[in-house]
Amino acid sequence: MNASETSDTSDTTSTPDTPDTSGPAVTPFSALIRTASHEAHTEAESSTFMGDLLGGRLGIEAYARYTEQLWFVYEALEADAGRLAADPVAGPFVRPELLRRTALERDLAHLRGPGWRDSLTALPATLAYAERVAECARTWPGGYVAHHYTRYLGDLSGGQIIRDRAERAWGFGRKGDGVRFYVFEDIANPAAFKRGYRELLDGVRADDLEKQRIVAECKRAFALNTGVFGALGEEFPLSA
Ligand code: HEM
Repeated sequence: MNASETSDTSDTTSTPDTPDTSGPAVTPFSALIRTASHEAHTEAESSTFMGDLLGGRLGIEAYARYTEQLWFVYEALEADAGRLAADPVAGPFVRPELLRRTALERDLAHLRGPGWRDSLTALPATLAYAERVAECARTWPGGYVAHHYTRYLGDLSGGQIIRDRAERAWGFGRKGDGVRFYVFEDIANPAAFKRGYRELLDGVRADDLEKQRIVAECKRAFALNTGVFGALGEEFPLSA
């Protein structure tokens, strides 16, 4: 659903004798990364776990377990955000209004109770994901951008569908504790924010080769998400 179909229109500057390999030079990077990750997005989106969760076939326990996994990922994404804010490549993306860890912690306190930290455990697939994010945060700002994009732009997009279903299924109240992770209180206009974010992607300080690496890391980020969904699907198989 990441609308790669819209990206074709942007390639109007290429000439007939320009080979396809010149794509990254003429296609805005935001369109390139969106199109390149389209297939991986469809795969993540159509995982059994997500389908069952959105289809109302799983209980609140599965939702809570998923929220716990997200905590590990955002811990890795946000622990180093202060330092990365000064980085010329990753810095422009690091925005306080995106930070999710506090919201996740409120959700977990609601879902699991005040002692939520005591029972918090990461699935092996989640550990692999969080470790890769942390590694990029430490050593490769471009890779960090790939993970940043995959999570935050997704949360601002499809995440809103998850919020809507969770609110209705488990009565958290509109935008209340339990779904705060999906509520970006300081982003009044998500569509405008996403447009601005895509402009940041278009202006990312990276040459074509580095952009290709970022796209590859984005695909890896999607695969890591799919891995977490797979593990959650095993933990919450449908009995029906
Ligand atoms: C059932 C699950 C999902 C649904 C229903 C869903 C739905 C959507 C929709 C409707 C959009 C387009 C929004 C727009 O054009 O403004 C979108 C975009 C996006 N989604 Fe998902 N999504 C899901 C899962 C995921 C997952 C697991 C990830 C990765 C962690 C993800 C990452 C993204 C990203 C990065 C975008 C932005 C694409 C772009 O415009 O560049 N989504 N999603």
